[in-house]
Amino acid sequence: MTADAPGRLSLRELGKTFGSGPGSVPAVEGVDLEIESGEFITLLGPSGCGKTTTLRMVAGFEDPTAGRILLDRSDLDGVPPNKRPMAMVFQSYALFPHLTVYDNVAYGLRLKRARRATLDDSVQVALTTMNLAGLADRMPHQLSGGQQQRVALARAMVMQPTVMLFDEPLSNLDAKLRAQMRLEIRVLARRMGITSLYVTHDQEEAMSLSDRIVIMNRGKVEQVGTPPEIYLRPASVFVADFIGRASFLPCTAGAVTSQGTAVRVLGREVFAPSRSEIASGDPALLMLRPEWIALAPSQEKADGVVLSSSYLGTTVEYEVETLAGILTASVPSPAPETILDDGCRVGITFDEARSYLLPDVTG
Ligand SMILES: Nc1ncnc2c1ncn2[C@@H]1O[C@H](COP(=O)(O)OP(=O)(O)O)[C@@H](O)[C@H]1O
Ligand SMILES: [Mg+2]
Repeated sequence: MTADAPGRLSLRELGKTFGSGPGSVPAVEGVDLEIESGEFITLLGPSGCGKTTTLRMVAGFEDPTAGRILLDRSDLDGVPPNKRPMAMVFQSYALFPHLTVYDNVAYGLRLKRARRATLDDSVQVALTTMNLAGLADRMPHQLSGGQQQRVALARAMVMQPTVMLFDEPLSNLDAKLRAQMRLEIRVLARRMGITSLYVTHDQEEAMSLSDRIVIMNRGKVEQVGTPPEIYLRPASVFVADFIGRASFLPCTAGAVTSQGTAVRVLGREVFAPSRSEIASGDPALLMLRPEWIALAPSQEKADGVVLSSSYLGTTVEYEVETLAGILTASVPSPAPETILDDGCRVGITFDEARSYLLPDVTG
């Protein structure tokens, strides 16, 4: 992408409060985001955190009550949805039930009075790209959910928007189809070099699709980062908990050194990489992802006791009770005969360089 390729989207201190009066809380508050041309960005967070409202403001369906939205440096304030170079795909597909697949896809171009030959070419390309060529004459009710969502995608891409907006487009599909479709969306967005703003509450979907993920909580941005940044170095316990699984060992931050911050956990001192806001003496939580923890049977120097194990094929998952609480450990490629029994006393080891110290905001 060149610096002036179109599709650079800026959200500046964006906010939305529905209604007025003392009882009204902002649905979206102070959202600052710079999205590069061609970037795939996902808004991820629990239901009600303000994802759809943010997306609808970008689309122009909702007026912000604070802040601004700029597309390639021009302010979108007052620009109606149909004048924004954007297309949106919804969870509900929102196809026209009385139009064929072909006419659904052609609809927007006809509104724009595209020439008949150009229109047909564009529709055919969109149908072929979305694997719908053989279904052009079908009606929406004659299609599966996955096919209907493909039509919605074709209908969006045929308009050659600068920005694609997606609101949980795969949530109505079964797990296998969801995984396949998200791959197709990713390939499509890449190939078209289109800026994509994607909303989901599914962390795996966000991880697999996104260049960067925006984690939202109660209308605010908790963290913006690449999938590895978010997973390995979450900004808060909320983020760490929302993306993947983690155990949190309560501790007190000791000396802050170049090797990390000293803490005592599981009866030993470790030096852990830590959030910059943590100072010596602060209450903290040492985050450990399940796959960072190794277990070994140990009678004399046990750190914990196996509460339960679940064999999942690619991993075996353990719950281990320790003095610091229950830890979740995940061991890859387990040979069935090596699975530890419930009640087994275990030593716990982990690579401290991979652990991460987070502020304990609960105190
Ligand atoms: N039209 C509306 N009127 C009043 N409140 C709304 C409206 N739309 C959304 N909200 C509220 O704004 C908050 C954020 O909603 P939404 O953006 O839909 O969240 P998400 O998409 O993350 O689930 C919620 O508390 C929701 O109830
Ligand atoms: Mg929503």
